[in-house]
Order: sequence, then structure tokens, then C-alpha cells
Amino acid sequence: KKSVRDVEVGGKRVFVRVDFNVPLENGKITDDTRIRETVPTIKYLTERGAKVILASHMGRPNGAVVEELRLTPVAARLSELLGQPVTKADEAVGAAVQAQVAELKDGDVLLLENVRFYAGEEKNDAELAKQFAELADLYVNDAFGAAHRAHASTEGIAHHLPAVGGLLMEKELDVLGRALNNPERPFTAIVGGAKVKDKIAVIEKLIEIADNIIIGGGLSYTFFKSKGLEIGKSLVDNDRLELVQEFERKAKEKGINFLLPVDVVVGDKFGADANTKIVNIDEIPADWEAFDIGPKTREIYAKTIAESKLVVWNGPMGVFELEPFKNGTQAVAEACAATAGYTVIGGGDSAAAVEKFHLGDKMDHISTGGGASLEFMEGKALPGVVALQDK
Ligand code: 3PG
Repeated sequence: KKSVRDVEVGGKRVFVRVDFNVPLENGKITDDTRIRETVPTIKYLTERGAKVILASHMGRPNGAVVEELRLTPVAARLSELLGQPVTKADEAVGAAVQAQVAELKDGDVLLLENVRFYAGEEKNDAELAKQFAELADLYVNDAFGAAHRAHASTEGIAHHLPAVGGLLMEKELDVLGRALNNPERPFTAIVGGAKVKDKIAVIEKLIEIADNIIIGGGLSYTFFKSKGLEIGKSLVDNDRLELVQEFERKAKEKGINFLLPVDVVVGDKFGADANTKIVNIDEIPADWEAFDIGPKTREIYAKTIAESKLVVWNGPMGVFELEPFKNGTQAVAEACAATAGYTVIGGGDSAAAVEKFHLGDKMDHISTGGGASLEFMEGKALPGVVALQDK
């Protein structure tokens, strides 16, 4: 698969798909990681005299113009990061955009409007893909975070232009690929989050490759219930009780250390003002609800992480957004920060947790992909990446 470093870019119009789907609050960007991470690719291109045309989605506007989802604040932030003006187009295709592209000088940067304002984007419409392609001479995909989507700007366009990966795309595939194909051992995978359903495929994959699998978060309580334990009002997936037993059985068969919580923090309600107690997993009161792993579990998990050469983390251990239930996730984040092993943080909630505890610079790699890094770890082919290989 080709990288932007393998092709001539000077003087060319380069269409760069990035993932600028960043969190916004009242029009302000609350986490600019995804923007910062694309700077090396953009600078690589501008320094070599390319005319850079950036495209991204933001949110899920479903093919309509949603004023709050315009990329205007992103253009402003990017301009600060690059130290050069970034022209923001009000559309992503059409005559006005074509005119703006025609005016670009070598080293200029133009940011197109949210590509999901067009219904054809998510449908991977061939006509829209062609319109994108006609703006440029070369396609660079640096949007790892959106690589699991087969959309017009992530997949379709790659069929019309020479198509290569950007530097961020390359870094993500390299780090996650090494974890998947040639992990340093002991390799510990931490799987948390609310739902069993979302983590089935990744747990199945990890049972093939990990040495230790650590389970936490809402999905744990289905494991407890499958063992006949009282889980009170905790989250449960009653349709998957047998499946989670099967996971444990298979892991055991393979000699994997499959770790479940031994104690939990329960609350009398969901909220920052809940009354809380720490109980062993066989003592969850019938009218209470578990929201975090307990202190004994934190200690066991931290020890396992400390002894690992590679740690891959996807999904929080509890409701870390709420003060009474943040300790489990914080302890795991701190253990990842402290271990001498190589740490890979899956995007989405785990990355947000690491940011919340200000431990970002202590991790070896924080993926810019949430869904994308999960699908990659499941062993699935990402359409945005496959399209590059096809060329
Ligand atoms: C993400 O935030 O995971 C990516 O930007 C993809 O967004 P989507 O789930 O709306 O396709």
C-alpha cells in the first residue's frame, strides 16, 4: 500500500480526506487532537508545494445542511496550528469550490465544507465521488477515524485518482497492525464499555492473540449474571448469557488469563449524587446498580498492566464521567501511563478518559479512530484502506 511519501506532490492539487469530526460545545472545539494529528501530513504537502484541498465530515447531518455542523471553527483552529491561512469553502463541490481550487497557489490550504451535507457522501454515490476527484490530481486518505466507512470521500474517490495514505493513516495502521500481527508478550487487552454486543467480535479476536484479557465496564455484569450471581439493577444483555460463558471457556482452553472484576462500586441511582458502596461481586444488593470496578479489582488490573509488554485498551471500566464512578477507569489509565510496556489506547471513550485524567502524553499511541480502531482490532478490512491498496 502506497504512502504520500512514495509520490510526487509538488505543484499538484491534492485532495486530502481527514477526520475532523471533533467534539464541539457551543461552537467551540473541546478536543482538537484529530486536527493536530493531521498537521504532519498537511505540512508535508505544503512544504513541497502542493495545493491542499481538505475534506472531512462532522457529526451526522444526514445529507442536509446543519448550520452547527459547518467546519468553520475547524478552519480557524487548523490555521492556528499550521501558522498559515486556511480558506474555508461554504460547499464541498460545485462551481464556487472549483473557482476556489483554481485560485490556489502552491502551498495554499483550502478546507471544503462538511461532506455529509450531501446525501451522496454516505451512499458512496459515484457521481459525488467523481465531483470530488475532479477537484484534484491526487487523493490522500489521512482519515483513519473514518476508514471503516465506505463513503464517497473515503472510498469512492479512490477509484478515480491515484490514491495513497497520509502520514497519520500510516502511523495508525503501523501501530495497530503490529499489535494485531506481532504483539510483544505478555500482551494484555483491556475491554470495557457498556454493551456486550459492541465488543463480541473484538473479544473473539483477542482470544486468538492476547495473553491477558481484562474485562470491565457495563459488559461485565452479563458475565456475572451468566454465573448465577445477583446483579441488582445493573446493565445486562440477557440474550448473550451463553455467549459470554463461551468466551470464558474458550479463553481458559487457550490458557489465557481472563480477568473479570472481583469487586464493584454500586450506587442507589445513576447520578453524581448517588449513594455508593463497595461490594464483592457476589454481594450486589438487589435494588442497587453497579457502575464501576472496585479497589481490589483496580489493584489486580494495575498489576497485570504493569507486567505487560504491550497493552491495548478499548472501553472504560465504569461511568468515568461521574465523580463517584471514575476511579476504576482512572486507575487503569494511570496503570497504562506508568507501565514500561507499549500502550495503545483505542479512540472514542478510552481516549476521552485518558484526556480527562491528563495522561495523554504518557501513552505511546492514542488512536484517532473509535469505531475504526475497534473494527481494525476485530481483524476487519477497512474500506478506506482497501481502496488505497486496490490502486
Ligand atoms: C468517529 O468519530 O468515530 C468517526 O469520525 C466516524 O464517525 P461516524 O461514526 O459518524 O461515521
